[in-house]
Amino acid sequence: MSANTKTATRAAMTVPQLHAMKDRGEKIVMLTAYDASFAAQCDVAGVDALLVGDSLGMVVQGRDSTLPVSVDDMVYHTAAVARGVASALLIADMPFMSYCNVDTALRNAGRLLAEGGAAMVKLEGAGFALDAIRALAQHAIPVCAHLGLTPQSVHKFGGYRVQGKSRDAAAQLEADARAVADAGADLLVLECVPATLARRITAQVPIPTIGIGAGADCDGQVLVLYDMLGITPGKRPKFSKDFLAGRGSIGAAIRAYAQAVREGSFPAAEHAF
Ligand code: KIV
Repeated sequence: MSANTKTATRAAMTVPQLHAMKDRGEKIVMLTAYDASFAAQCDVAGVDALLVGDSLGMVVQGRDSTLPVSVDDMVYHTAAVARGVASALLIADMPFMSYCNVDTALRNAGRLLAEGGAAMVKLEGAGFALDAIRALAQHAIPVCAHLGLTPQSVHKFGGYRVQGKSRDAAAQLEADARAVADAGADLLVLECVPATLARRITAQVPIPTIGIGAGADCDGQVLVLYDMLGITPGKRPKFSKDFLAGRGSIGAAIRAYAQAVREGSFPAAEHAF
């Protein structure tokens, strides 16, 4: 084991640069990370943005859902990831009920930036979350919105299901995407929505879209790191791929993922809905 010595091999990624990448049609490569060592592997492999997802509740803590994850958990893991990152933009998830009103959202997002070292926070939903997005943006806290299959709503959805399949549900998601962008979000994750819907939303909103189970036409892609390394217990989701299979190292797997996203070979049709 050696001391944490992070070395920047490229310029630090910024929010305006992510916007410029959308304008230039350059794909954005994102992965989740939960600790300094994996974060450093992703950073050195050229990942543009790292998300400390509340998926850590499931893949690190072994829970059934993301709901029990606390703000303290997120601050702890975000600070750990920050110690491993030199260049990638660091995004931290706001856990369940941590942005249920504006004051709560500002206090918790402030902790994720000030104590955790994040450069952006992610929160799920539109509607009730729009006031929080607006307030965070007004306080210069960059926001990544998250629409489609929003795991914190698992009980409302009755399971982890593809969203936006009916004409009405698709129209609602398109309206929500425009609303979060209008409220000041800088980035938008689209999870488990039909690829045709994700393509329409990506064309309509001025901010970059990052897909996970949303087809190849989003401005970028994100996967849960443990899914794409094939180490998450149970069945791998349809939209993911084991990039470690047939490769000799975690670094090689992450580089292969980054290359596949940049050249547009991942996700393929078989990973989309
Ligand atoms: O928590 C998480 O890891 C996420 C990604 C799946 C987008 O929200």
